[in-house]
Amino acid sequence: MNNSENELKIYTYPDRVLRATAEAIENIDEDLQKLVDNMIHTMYLAPGIGLAANQVGELRRVIVFDLYPRKDGRDPRVLINPEIVLSEGKVASEESCLSVVDYSAEVSRNAQVKVKGVGRHGKPMDIEAEGLLAICLQHEIDHLNGTLYIDHISSLKRALYKKRLKKKLKEK
Ligand code: NI
Repeated sequence: MNNSENELKIYTYPDRVLRATAEAIENIDEDLQKLVDNMIHTMYLAPGIGLAANQVGELRRVIVFDLYPRKDGRDPRVLINPEIVLSEGKVASEESCLSVVDYSAEVSRNAQVKVKGVGRHGKPMDIEAEGLLAICLQHEIDHLNGTLYIDHISSLKRALYKKRLKKKLKEK
């Protein structure tokens, strides 16, 4: 971490930016590196294990993640223009999201995915994932398509969360 990194605002549901489709990145330039650094910084501060650009109000197809955040020896991963090219199996697990405050719910996902994309310096990447990494990648790539994990739960559960959130926002 250095001082040139800035904490970004994390947009929360029901903000419309979370519903927009992010656009493919064509130029890996300084501006993008700055965004990536700031996203990593913001993810660790939150703290969270993944962050997609939509969540900080940027409609660019980039995600950052680190399943095992530590104070020392951090290993943040960056994926630009990620795309799921293969998915298999089913798994259900409890998910939460920095953009969906005070909530978590069980979500069904594919158990294994193969994701293609490029790293922050343009190196082609091919990730075969299972377990938490597979879930995290599906969750973050969903964000780039304007989808939230609460879109995968039952409409009844979602309605209850909306009601609770509305009440909470009124109380503020
Ligand atoms: Ni999320």
